[in-house]
Amino acid sequence: MMTLTQYLQSHASDELASTLGTLANSSIAISALLDKGALAGIHGEAGNQNIQGEAQKKLDVIANNLLLDALTKNPHCAGVASEELDDISPAHDDGTMLVTFDPLDGSSNIDINMTVGTIFSILPYQRVGSQATEADFLQKGTSQLAAGYFIYGTSTMLAMTLGQGVVMFSLDPTTQEYLRIDNQVKIDESATEYAINASNYRYWLDPIKEYINGLVAGDMGIRNKDYNMRWVAAMIADVHRILIRGGVFMYPFDTKIAGKAGKLRLMYEANPMSFIIEQAGGASTDGVVRIMDIQPSHIHQRIPVVLGAKEEVDYVKNLHAKAGILANGEMA
Ligand code: AHG
Repeated sequence: MMTLTQYLQSHASDELASTLGTLANSSIAISALLDKGALAGIHGEAGNQNIQGEAQKKLDVIANNLLLDALTKNPHCAGVASEELDDISPAHDDGTMLVTFDPLDGSSNIDINMTVGTIFSILPYQRVGSQATEADFLQKGTSQLAAGYFIYGTSTMLAMTLGQGVVMFSLDPTTQEYLRIDNQVKIDESATEYAINASNYRYWLDPIKEYINGLVAGDMGIRNKDYNMRWVAAMIADVHRILIRGGVFMYPFDTKIAGKAGKLRLMYEANPMSFIIEQAGGASTDGVVRIMDIQPSHIHQRIPVVLGAKEEVDYVKNLHAKAGILANGEMA
């Protein structure tokens, strides 16, 4: 079986391979900590709040520091932005890569021994020789050089794209090496499974209400077929399920918190996952436009997300268009 190192040697530039190697090594350390779980004393709250006003778990902080430390030591890395840190961290002025990451997506799952993961995105650095600033990170998702996630589930896996399809690796616990298990991950265009936090129903816009009503009605409704529902409450696990057996995932625009256009973050979650999903043959939108075409305005920007099977994503987009919604995020 091909190792991640061998794959990167033949598919990525030295700089990209080195950056992805640093991310992979960090993920192996995070995976080992998660394995120890409560025995490592890493469960529970760390007592801080992140920039989004959410309580940080102890392991969020540890994973964040681990990634930050390793990436800023990598000479190819010009700067790092983490979902958990207010400001970006400049690294090497001569580096050619910028990295954004969500160190532990779904962190409320840690204490209940459920799946979490690390999401990453790598962007080109355009001002080599100068110190990186937040503005350097504000590139559209279409500029990503690579994106992916490490999922810490019943086993640890990596799904990644370098822009030529999606490849999946599994961590061999004996050798601590990632081994390739799928060279071309593909998503079916149609789906019979959906993921959404339905408790937010009353806060959704009409097109999403109408869409979910249709799915719930199953073969008695407009869609004329039955759908199944799953929600792990960790985007990483819901997206992984879609890569494995298809479906659609949504965290749509809602009016729950005034001024917030959705819950998920463009730079740490939506763009990298959109890159993966599109490269696997799926689609991704905020309800109105393709997510990877959105010009970011802020490093911690939130965005509504609908991604997965093409037919379902197109259906949701049509409902938004029919309702005359022109710019989803701007309705906050
Ligand atoms: P976090 O990064 O704080 O762990 O948030 C996880 C995100 C995402 O992964 C998941 O889909 C969503 O939050 C779950 O939200 P609800 O709690 O509203 O279900």
